Amino acid sequence: MYSKEVMDHFMNPRNVGEIPDADGIGVEGNPTCGDVMKLFIKVKDEKIEDIKFQTFGCGAAIAVSSMITEMAKGKTLDEAEKITKQDVSDKLGGLPPQKMHCSNLGADALKKAIEDYRKKHGG
Ligand code: FES
Repeated sequence: MYSKEVMDHFMNPRNVGEIPDADGIGVEGNPTCGDVMKLFIKVKDEKIEDIKFQTFGCGAAIAVSSMITEMAKGKTLDEAEKITKQDVSDKLGGLPPQKMHCSNLGADALKKAIEDYRKKHGG
């Protein structure tokens, strides 16, 4: 039922953890199931230099979190902000229809982390 990519990112999630001196933090909860994702970014020259996540959620949510950190790393804030949940689920080879709501967390948490960074840094 899950793609190879989903299983890979679920079994070996990339960029798990926290960044204690993060420049921006985004927290997003999924009202459908109560799962929560927290995303930390480190920014240098308007680029996402480092990114880590902590997700308390289902396997699909963990795969989504892992994938979005890989997609966002090295991108400018403007580019990263444009990543949609559809982009993430496409990169994961699709999610089963009943699991599509799990892809909400990633893109929303990333947008919030970028907003948080801009607020703190006067952008
Ligand atoms: Fe909650 Fe997937 S069931 S994010």
